[in-house]
Parts: sequence; C-alpha cells; structure tokens
Amino acid sequence: MGRASRSADLLSALQLLLLLLRTTTARALGPRISVPLDSEERLIRKFEAENISNYTALLLSQDGKTLYVGAREALFALNSNLSFLPGGEYQELLWSADPDRKQQCSFKGKDPKRDCQNYIKILLPLNSSHLLTCGTAAFSPLCAYINTASFTLARDEAGSVLLEDGKGRCPFDPNFKSTALVVDGELYTGTVSSFQGNDPAISRSQSPRPTKTESSLNWLQDPAFVASAYVPESLGSPIGDDDKIYFFFSETGQEFEFFENTIVSRVARVCKGDEGGERVLQQRWTSFLKAQLLCSRPDDGFPFNVLQDVFTLNPNPQDWRKTLFYGVFTSQWHRGTTEGSAICVFTMNDVQKAFDGLYKKVNRETQQWYTETHPVPTPRPGACITNSARERKINSSLQLPDRVLNFLKDHFLMDGQVRSRLLLLQPQARYQRVAVHRVPGLHSTYDVLFLGTGDGRLHKAVTLDSRVHIIEELQVFPQGQPVQNLLLDSHGGLLYASSHSGVVQVPVANCSLYPTCGDCLLARDPYCAWNGSTCKLLSLYQPDLASSTHM
Ligand SMILES: *[C@@H]1O[C@H](CO)[C@@H](O)[C@H](O)[C@H]1NC(C)=O
Repeated sequence: MGRASRSADLLSALQLLLLLLRTTTARALGPRISVPLDSEERLIRKFEAENISNYTALLLSQDGKTLYVGAREALFALNSNLSFLPGGEYQELLWSADPDRKQQCSFKGKDPKRDCQNYIKILLPLNSSHLLTCGTAAFSPLCAYINTASFTLARDEAGSVLLEDGKGRCPFDPNFKSTALVVDGELYTGTVSSFQGNDPAISRSQSPRPTKTESSLNWLQDPAFVASAYVPESLGSPIGDDDKIYFFFSETGQEFEFFENTIVSRVARVCKGDEGGERVLQQRWTSFLKAQLLCSRPDDGFPFNVLQDVFTLNPNPQDWRKTLFYGVFTSQWHRGTTEGSAICVFTMNDVQKAFDGLYKKVNRETQQWYTETHPVPTPRPGACITNSARERKINSSLQLPDRVLNFLKDHFLMDGQVRSRLLLLQPQARYQRVAVHRVPGLHSTYDVLFLGTGDGRLHKAVTLDSRVHIIEELQVFPQGQPVQNLLLDSHGGLLYASSHSGVVQVPVANCSLYPTCGDCLLARDPYCAWNGSTCKLLSLYQPDLASSTHM
C-alpha cells in the first residue's frame, strides 16, 4: 500500500514536470478603473514620519479611532481621522536597539545600517491596558509592553523598561517572515529563532504554559510563515472540542523526494488547551498536525505552490464552520519575467477533512514517506481533548498515553491534501497581501478582496458568479515598494496599507469615480449604488455613520 502511494506520487511528479515544460497562456485581467500615484481622483492619504522607514506592523484599537504602527526603531499612535491630514498630529514612541547590541551585531558581520536596527515585527493587543511589541533589536530580538494610555514602554518599579527575550517570538533577521497572535492573553508565534535563521518553531512562549514544536523531529522544514488564525471551535461543539490556532506557511516538501527543494504550502494547527506531554513530548505540542494546501490552475494543474498570505474570513461569529481561508500564492516555477499569482479559497470543511483523515508516516532511516495504513491508537493522535477522551479519564494533554504521543512523533503530516477553489489567476502582478470584506450588497452578499502587490499597487476585486473580477487599481506606493501589510477597518470603511516609506489610508470605495448611472452599475462595486442622480456609497459603509456608532 505504501508502495502504491509512492508510485502515485511519482506519477504526479512526472505530470508536474510535463506541465513545467509546457508554455503557459496568460490571461489578461485589467481593472476597470486604474488610478496612478499622483492622481487627485482618489482620497489616498499618506502618513510618513521624518527619518523613519520600514513601516510593517499595523494594529487598530478596539474603538477604531487609533491606528498603531510599528516601523524601524519607532512606533506610532495615529488618529485615524486627523493624523493622515497634512500636518496632522500623532504620538511617537522611539525604541531603538541599544548601542551594545548594535556593536555586537556588526562585530558578527552584519550590516550596521541595514541589519543592526530594531525592526518592529510584532504589535498586538495584550489586554485592556497594554500592547505587546517585539522587534529584531539588532539581530537579538526583544519584546516590550506598551502602556496604551500614555503610549510609552512599560517600566518596572525601579524605572527601567521591562524587556523580555524575543527569541522564538520574533526573527533575528528583519527580512524573515513570521506570524504572531494573542489568544486569551497568551502569545502564539511562528518564526525562525536563531541568529543563522534556522531552528524554526511554532510556540506559545509565555509562561505558565510554554509549549512548542520539537525541533529534533523536523516537524518544520525551512518554513516561511505568512499568517495565523484563531478559530473558536469549542463554541457549541457536540464532541466537546477545543479551540484551535492555525498557522499558514510554505516550506520544503520533504515528501516530494523526487525533486530537491520543492516548496509546498501548509496549514498546521494546535489546540489551545494543549499543555504538552508528561514524559513524552514534554513542553511540546501534542496536537501539532500539518497538511498541504493546493492551489493550481484548473485547466492544466500548473501549481501555485508558494503561499504569500492568508486572510481568515469568519462571516458568522456564531458558526466557525463557515470560516473561509483566502490564500494568495505565487509559483516557484515561474520563468523569466512572468511574475504571476493566484488566489485560492479554502473552506473550513476541507481543512478539517484533511486533519480527520489518514496520516503520512516518515521512515526516519530512509526519510521516505508512506501513507499510514495500520490502525491508529486512541485517543486519536493530534486531536484535541474531547468528551470521548474525558470519558477515558484523560482531561489534559498531560494525561495522554505514551503510545499516542510516540505515534505523533512520526505522524505529523496528513496524507490528504486540502484542495481549494481557484478564484483568480493574475499573470500581471505578484500579490503579497490580501484582506477580505464580506459586504451585504443590494441584492446579495459579496466578498470584496483587497490585494497588495510587490510593486506598490492595490487591487480591489469582487466575487461575482464564483469568479473574481478586479474592479479597481490604485498605485499607493512608488514602484520599488512592496505592499508589506494590509489592515481593513470594516466599520470605518477604510483600508490601511504599509510599505518602506509610509502608511496609506484609502476609503474602501470612492463611488464618485463613476459619474453616470451606467458607470455606477458597470463598476460592479458592491459599496456603491445609483440613487437617481449620483453614484453613492451605500449608507451602511459611510465612514462617518459608522464611526458615530463608536461614540
Ligand atoms: C527597509 O526599507 C528599505 C528602503 O527604505 C528597503 O530597501 C529594505 O529592504 C527594507 N527592509 C525591510 C526588512 O523591510
């Protein structure tokens, strides 16, 4: 059986090779409206502070009035209405790596100007009074707490800034991708955690329950983390399931031994209640499982295998089963100048099917992978603690039997791949970031996608008849600047994008771009409607109306 599945893999590998030899046909997908950088047409407002670069982290306060921004050696608190106006005021918090660290960093051969700085990578709400922030701090990462009332770094009684080691939470190298989120006051991260940029881990770093992936077992292979999501699966669960944290990344596909350095995209997950094992897998996840994400061109199967970003859309907070994962992919095998990308959407149901299905097993001696066909121990390895486990007097991962945990050591990859629906092939842009807004339009519900490109553009796209149409293009940053981050303020009707030179704020729609009734309808912009004389923003999304509900 194992052999059969291996020859199936070989077959698909050959198909892949054939595909790569075929030339690809590009499909032109032009937006209806394209607005260049210097245009007055669109209300693009830009924030840039003097002598500050590399704006990456974006966070909106709960009331939507303050936008927190993390850049190089500095953080900002911006008023979403005022700070983006010319000469607008803002709060600044300078946090630079100390001279000692900078010196050590350059001693170790790093570029003092480029590498030996503090690049803010993590900026998250911790509780009602504090934010958590982490920066690369000259290749020796640190974390600190920000008092939101005063917008200053928290200090201890003696008056010195409260700093924590950021290793395992924040990468050393500012160019490395990582992801982080806070759930119930605990920080979950996916990052590489060493000076050399190896030793990757998915961890919950803060005491009292530090838990991570086991590095000696190679659960991760040179991953590039792009996103993470919290899904409250305990809500109304008939089996007494636990909440889960999902991680999205691309990595080397060990199971594809026929091609060296084949990149695959993955979803991995852990249970919120996981406390590690008692003897086996101590302080290690007992619930770590990963599966392959597939996004390919339907007509010939050309693979878009490198994940760039994932947006988790949970349209109904009462029903996590409706959760959708919108993924932006590029391909490892794009040749020449064609730098295309693809957008695929994954359903929660399909993700769950993979995690509930068969396991792959690695033979540690030969490093070959097989489909596991032998019986699986109970409770099911990698599952969260559920009612059926509790009936066996297993109330915590600490009580899981050794044979279950030992099984998991070599069975952390699922056999089934998660298939997706391809929504858009984009031969002319390299998408880096995606944010999605579910909009109840006049006649039905639309998912509006905001996409950030590698060359400073924003695309707005709408799902219509299960396809995605790009309806608008905006050049928001100069050509050489990739869109590093996107943040959607759906209540305020605003979108924020950040890059090397600054942060821009744009309204989700500018219906006045469409002067006639025909234009307004043809625009297919679900935010806009013709009211008899002008193309108007549907009142539901008027920023002023929405923000007045905050008061
Ligand atoms: C920081 O910004 C500069 C341009 O100002 C860019 O060349 C560099 O790649 C950026 N670094 C990171 C880590 O984003």
